[in-house]
Amino acid sequence: MTLAIGIDIGGTGIKGAVIDLDAGDIVGDRIKHPTPEGGEPDDIIATVAQLVGELGTEGVEHIGVCFPAVVVNGRTMSAANVSERWIGLDADTAFGEALGRDIHFVNDADAAGYAEAMSGAARGQRGLVIMTTLGTGIGSALINDGVLIANSELGHLVLNGRDAESWAANSAREREELSFAEWAERLTEYYRYVEALLWPELFVIGGGISKQHNEFIPLIDVRTPIVPAELRNNAGIIGAAALAQRFSR
Ligand code: BGC
Repeated sequence: MTLAIGIDIGGTGIKGAVIDLDAGDIVGDRIKHPTPEGGEPDDIIATVAQLVGELGTEGVEHIGVCFPAVVVNGRTMSAANVSERWIGLDADTAFGEALGRDIHFVNDADAAGYAEAMSGAARGQRGLVIMTTLGTGIGSALINDGVLIANSELGHLVLNGRDAESWAANSAREREELSFAEWAERLTEYYRYVEALLWPELFVIGGGISKQHNEFIPLIDVRTPIVPAELRNNAGIIGAAALAQRFSR
């Protein structure tokens, strides 16, 4: 059994668990701490170190961490819904120093999409799968025949002159008190644009709201099949752990 720790850093919570990579599932308890106010790098790194200590690292071969930003070579390059102080930060090194061991740092949607392709809703799917997470922002992952193309950032496509996520993310539905039918009209427009550009074979929709998939997925009118994520809130944790193994040096 190969064990890894996966950590998923979000705007409101930081979740972590030990993952059995052979089974693609969580072992033991999942631990969640609130994201420190302001989301500053030092505070988040300290919370992650505490969480890893609570999970315990005995027998753990890899640690993977995912975060809601573009990540290139372990460096966070954007900060759409988090503190600007992350831009340009060498997160891989900063977390590695705080934890005293190598970690692998990736984008949150990429981690979730990779997990869904390995052991969730897109398992065994050939061709291009596009996973989107509908939350505060819209995260995206492109997986082609099981290979992840990182940092796709399709939430920031410009639709009708606006950043798509500011208009079609779940936070826009909440903020503007849209009905599911009204939100689905926006999602239809968004996914039609994405499918016209990339012609995927499957869309997977994740994010907390995907629990209520029956309320809105059937109302999204696009030609590509759409399914809800299966791993739900654990996709980021599982994917971060799996990618840490895949890219271990
Ligand atoms: C960020 C992405 C992230 C997504 C979901 C977007 O605002 O730009 O990097 O994956 O939110 O958290």
